[in-house]
Amino acid sequence: MEQLDTLVQSAAADFAAVSEPAKLEEAKARYLGKEGSLTALLKGLGKLPAEERKAAGVAINAAKEKVEGALQARREALRESALEAQLAAEALDVTLPGRGRGLGGLHPVTRSLERIEQLFRSIGFEVADGPEIETDWHNFTALNTPEKHPARSMHDTFYLLSDDGRVREDVLLRTHTSPVQIRAMLAHVEKYKHLDPMPEIRVICPGRVYRVDSDATHSPMFHQVEGLWVGEGVSFADLKGVVADFLRRFFESDDMKVRFRPSFFPFTEPSAEIDVAFQSGPLEGRWLEIAGCGMVHPNVLRFGGIDPERYTGFAFGMGPDRLTMLRYGIGDLRLFFDGDLRFLSQFK
Ligand code: PHE
Repeated sequence: MEQLDTLVQSAAADFAAVSEPAKLEEAKARYLGKEGSLTALLKGLGKLPAEERKAAGVAINAAKEKVEGALQARREALRESALEAQLAAEALDVTLPGRGRGLGGLHPVTRSLERIEQLFRSIGFEVADGPEIETDWHNFTALNTPEKHPARSMHDTFYLLSDDGRVREDVLLRTHTSPVQIRAMLAHVEKYKHLDPMPEIRVICPGRVYRVDSDATHSPMFHQVEGLWVGEGVSFADLKGVVADFLRRFFESDDMKVRFRPSFFPFTEPSAEIDVAFQSGPLEGRWLEIAGCGMVHPNVLRFGGIDPERYTGFAFGMGPDRLTMLRYGIGDLRLFFDGDLRFLSQFK
């Protein structure tokens, strides 16, 4: 009988010592399993003399019940502490303040582009798009800049390599949005060739352009907005009116000075550079160049499928990055493309 008490105690101690359910089942097997010590005692009953057998059976079964009780209690205790641990790990402190969501904002240049599109749409312009990887023909040749023409060197760009590692001569990253003039004219003529006179072309094209250039006011990737208006009797006076009116509305400044300074582009004749000057503020009185423009060269109209004896037009290409710098008083163009949130989050 003493032996049974010891056995019950050691089983209870073994159960108490384990903290994992699998280990508990192993400990159980040592007592109650097929080879377990209690099981062995029960099997041995048959060998006892008949007069001892009954009392021994009662005692062994009582011990077995105690071991099973201890086992059950330990199982429950383990289950409970596992649950508690899980609850603690997944606890939510509902009294903490919320983390909130950061509000995004549009990039300052995107804001300018949207504003430019809106202002030109209001006077009947459509918004067109063209590829950034452009053909040499659209970027230069059709813009009256034949191969080997010195004006090509004003546009040092990035070229693409063919599979065998050679520079491709037929495509490049566009150096300006002017190739979209050609695309717009060709598409327009194709669409309206049955109409006489042809409806006017009035289109702007905002987009990214590329040149090998990098300092505080130049970036290898920058933006331009091309404008093109072609029709019967379109004149330089229309160009001046449209551009000056746009600039005053863009900068919300009625007394802004706008100047057209004679210049050269192969694809316009005559050509001009457009400068603006504010009458107040930190930049007061300083002339700042913001666009190139001119009357579309007859050769360019021809490349676009349009008869230059009948139709005339003007084109301009302005720098919305520059416009944005002026509008917000930003001194370094590179800030736009660094992705620094301390800068960008000021425009939310
Ligand atoms: N494409 C010219 C440039 O990038 C600007 C321009 C556009 C000039 C249209 C005249 C007409 O410098």
